[in-house]
Amino acid sequence: MKNNIEDQQLGKETKTVVVRPMRIEDIPSIVAIEEVSFSNPWRAESFLSELNNNRVARYYCLEINERVVGYMGVWLIINEAHITNVAIWPGCRGQGWGEYLMRHVMRELKKIGLMSITLEVRVSNTIAQNLYTKLGFKAAGIRRKYYSDNKEDAIIMWAKL
Ligand SMILES: CC(C)(COP(=O)(O)OP(=O)(O)OC[C@H]1O[C@@H](n2cnc3c(N)ncnc32)[C@H](O)[C@@H]1OP(=O)(O)O)[C@@H](O)C(=O)NCCC(=O)NCCS
Repeated sequence: MKNNIEDQQLGKETKTVVVRPMRIEDIPSIVAIEEVSFSNPWRAESFLSELNNNRVARYYCLEINERVVGYMGVWLIINEAHITNVAIWPGCRGQGWGEYLMRHVMRELKKIGLMSITLEVRVSNTIAQNLYTKLGFKAAGIRRKYYSDNKEDAIIMWAKL
């Protein structure tokens, strides 16, 4: 499926930047980003089920000039947020948008009373690890062979909100 955004940097054309709750009509754009971002991507049905059926799930979109270029999902469990996925469209990476999206969502979660946030990240994904470290996450353990596609280990990371 083709995304509705061109594979180019947004640069000086940037006008409006919005982080907002994900809607069902965003799912095709989200799946397009998901498919170019992960070796074991979620399908549209998974996002649909999360939006429709999972009461603890919160999904956010990053929209630039009315185009969805990133997203982040969390499950709220007591006073902890568990990140399910975060990704930025490849043409928009390396420009601070991933950091912007995560900082925004973390601020929102803190406002509604969440105390801490956690995630798993592949040991090979040093780019994401750098981002998380910059945001204050610290490694807290390893889940061995966590990823079913290549049996890669996951690093568990936590941050205070
Ligand atoms: C991880 C991801 C969301 C980062 O988004 P991004 O918009 O490219 O990141 P940013 O431009 O906001 O960069 C923020 C920080 O991330 C790290 N980072 C980003 N790109 C990097 C790169 N190419 N090499 C090393 N570190 C990098 C740096 O710490 C950077 O801070 P700095 O610019 O001060 O050095 C994005 O690369 C992505 O969608 N990857 C595919 C999906 C994925 O791996 N998701 C995480 C699953 S756990």
